[in-house]
Amino acid sequence: MQEDGNNRVAILGAGNMGGALLGGILKSGFVKPDQVVATTKSEEHARVMREKYGCPVTAGGNRAAVQGAHLIVLATKPHVVPLVVEEIRDVLTPDQVLISLAAALPMVVIEKRLREAMPVFRAMPNIPVVVGEGAVGVCANRQAKPEQRKVVEEMFRAVGVVCSVEEDMMDAVTGLSGSGPAYVYMVIEAFIAGGLKMGLSREVSTKLAEQTVLGAARHVQNSMLHPAILRDEVTTPGGTTIVAIHELERHGLRSMLISAIETATRHAKERSQALAKKLDQEDEG
Ligand SMILES: NC(=O)c1ccc[n+]([C@@H]2O[C@H](COP(=O)([O-])OP(=O)(O)OC[C@H]3O[C@@H](n4cnc5c(N)ncnc54)[C@H](OP(=O)(O)O)[C@@H]3O)[C@@H](O)[C@H]2O)c1
Repeated sequence: MQEDGNNRVAILGAGNMGGALLGGILKSGFVKPDQVVATTKSEEHARVMREKYGCPVTAGGNRAAVQGAHLIVLATKPHVVPLVVEEIRDVLTPDQVLISLAAALPMVVIEKRLREAMPVFRAMPNIPVVVGEGAVGVCANRQAKPEQRKVVEEMFRAVGVVCSVEEDMMDAVTGLSGSGPAYVYMVIEAFIAGGLKMGLSREVSTKLAEQTVLGAARHVQNSMLHPAILRDEVTTPGGTTIVAIHELERHGLRSMLISAIETATRHAKERSQALAKKLDQEDEG
């Protein structure tokens, strides 16, 4: 691990998420094209990625890709991650850092497949990483040193905002920000439908809806005030906002969203436990 910013990165599985991370770390200057390598399964996709990013991308070749890398990102689908770890484990060294992006895959599943203990991180990004506005939850095992945490967090800051949590909170991260973009897309969709219902054109409804969500989020972020205070500030006595708020409360908007996050978190936890159990049974069998 280099603290001078000269880290070499290997991204194993440059699909949607791995590709977005690759694009983000190149764009932000976290790595130059000669400091990063990536892999895919198919040659066709590898060629597309090579042309798009101008860095080495190979179909397979995970073992070669990790050699000389400081940070190794495991970005295949969760069920493929244990297979990739088994494939590369005898060329890994304890000074390298493994970072899994796999949803619902506990770190212990990866640790059990290693030849010796090494730093392992688990990160839960969300899809706005493709526009550099992701929200990323990160946790690490006991081998991870503070300077390694700093570099890993810096890498993810290339694609969004980073929050450090304990591993037992990763399912809550999944329920809130991992799945969260879908909830917000539904809100935007409903805003557009509301505008259409009231006679605004599709184009105007869409522009106003997306900017209202974007602007409100930016205002919460910049003001650092609780959203309830900002809501109160725009609620004029006897005005139009309070009658709309009354409607939203009557239909339980806030309660609905709290329940959605609770249910998604519970589901993520169950999936994570089931996947770990299945892999344990396969190991024993
Ligand atoms: N997408 C999200 O919103 C999101 C959010 C949070 C976390 N994640 C996590 O990110 C990970 C990737 O998800 P994704 O949506 O990016 O999936 P994806 O688009 O299917 O990407 C997976 C990539 O892995 C490659 N691959 C498959 N087997 C491989 C192997 N043995 N060696 C090297 N590369 C291999 C595939 O290559 P080909 O392209 O050639 O098939 C593909 O490029 C998952 O673990 C997921 O849980 C995703």
